[in-house]
Amino acid sequence: MLSATAKETIRATLPAVGAAIDDITTLFYRKMFTAHPELERDLFNRGNQKQGGQQKALAGAIAAFAALQLEPDQARVDLILSRIANKHASLGIQPAQYQIVHKYLFQAIVEVLGDAVTAEVAAAWDEVYWLMAETLIAMEAGLYRAAGVADGEVWRQVRVRERRHESADAVSFVLTSLDGAPLPSFSPGQYLSVGVHLEDGARQIRQYSLSSAPSSGDWRITVKRVGAHTLPDGSIAPAGEVSNFLYCNVFEGDVLDVTTPFGDLVLQDDDAPLLLVSAGIGCTPMMGMLSHLADTADRRAISVIHADRAPSSHAHRAELAELVDRLPFAVMHRWYEDLGARSPEDRLREGRADLGEITIADGTRVYLCGPLPFMLGMREALLDKGVAAQNIHYEVFGPDSWAAAPA
Ligand SMILES: Cc1cc2nc3c(=O)[nH]c(=O)nc-3n(C[C@H](O)[C@H](O)[C@H](O)COP(=O)(O)OP(=O)(O)OC[C@H]3O[C@@H](n4cnc5c(N)ncnc54)[C@H](O)[C@@H]3O)c2cc1C
Ligand code: HEM
Repeated sequence: MLSATAKETIRATLPAVGAAIDDITTLFYRKMFTAHPELERDLFNRGNQKQGGQQKALAGAIAAFAALQLEPDQARVDLILSRIANKHASLGIQPAQYQIVHKYLFQAIVEVLGDAVTAEVAAAWDEVYWLMAETLIAMEAGLYRAAGVADGEVWRQVRVRERRHESADAVSFVLTSLDGAPLPSFSPGQYLSVGVHLEDGARQIRQYSLSSAPSSGDWRITVKRVGAHTLPDGSIAPAGEVSNFLYCNVFEGDVLDVTTPFGDLVLQDDDAPLLLVSAGIGCTPMMGMLSHLADTADRRAISVIHADRAPSSHAHRAELAELVDRLPFAVMHRWYEDLGARSPEDRLREGRADLGEITIADGTRVYLCGPLPFMLGMREALLDKGVAAQNIHYEVFGPDSWAAAPA
């Protein structure tokens, strides 16, 4: 808990720090990467840095955490920190690294806010930083312990046993251990990190959700290649680095560096009715969940909604239908923006997904994954249909600035 003095100082300075937090985090990363170029090259996601997503996520998390010290809401604090701790664990972040972040973050605060940072102000924000850092360090230690690894020792080599095209742009990789022993089980919905060495010498890391059943002894990920595309301002965004590397270069028999699975979008341990809503490559955590439900002969009511550009771009299309068929009380609704020559039929529609026809039973838990605008639209519609906010769980395939956003 913050001291009473720090609380008052935070209350007085939060508006000014909040207004400058984006500048602070941008300068922080610039300073940290100048002093430690290896962090930008080999640990942080440089695509997120270029797009500004990570700066926004860090700014949002710090501002929200500080505000939550003044108006406590433990559920929100837990959501924000658990999201970060799982991401950190999947990157093998270690306690000593918090000193490095502290050093450059506070240099950036002083440089941006200037004389406003009196000794008292610096001490109060220092308390906020270490409260957040120590909570994260403890959560990360708990995650490492639960995974049976030493702090930060999350990396292992695996062999690609099988590579398969799952749609025009997506390939799956079935991963096995090098010595043939079964790979550890995971919770359905979790992800792992993959680290690859790129041509310019950088080692870049990305996360991929596990799209297979958790206790099969193998892990499967499905990677959609990100092509170059035009941005709203007319400039061209380059093709994704890691997804294209994996798509173009990794085949059966190759060895990959991956981490132990982590992630907090997991099926809760209850038998609430389920609504799984995905768009595009957001189908992957749902494939993990449905495989688990089918393997455990689950008998609850399950609705599966998937939206995609076209049947040809829908990764795991046939496998999804098979899984739904194996579940006695599951129904599937699909929307494709372009159905091609096919005619719409019951539960197969052309256009954007909507929840109009879907009946949602009381107490339903919803799992969402897809592009952020899709998830925001679905969340609105779910709240309108009376689904409780705490029953809507989601995964963002990038830095999550949603968790810390005001409700
Ligand atoms: C928890 C989690 C689970 C995930 N699960 C999956 C999954 O199951 N399957 C899957 O395919 N993906 C998944 N992802 C996404 C995945 O981690 C990668 O983000 C994705 O593969 C793109 O990585 P990349 O290296 O190819 O692209 P990057 O090189 O990181 O580029 C990302 C974006 O930034 C843009 N960009 C890069 N540089 C610039 C610039 N200078 N200016 C403007 N724009 C730029 C690129 O055009 C691209 O759109 C998941 C992400 C998370 C966080
Ligand atoms: C109190 C201190 C810290 C806070 C508040 C913080 C906050 C965050 C947040 C909000 C994210 C985005 C999570 C998401 O993807 O949803 C993140 C990711 C990340 N953090 Fe931290 N972090 C802290 C300390 C550290 C430290 C010490 C390191 C190690 C040097 C670190 C390395 C990373 C990396 C590599 C990512 C992923 C970046 C990316 O994928 O773009 N963080 N952190």
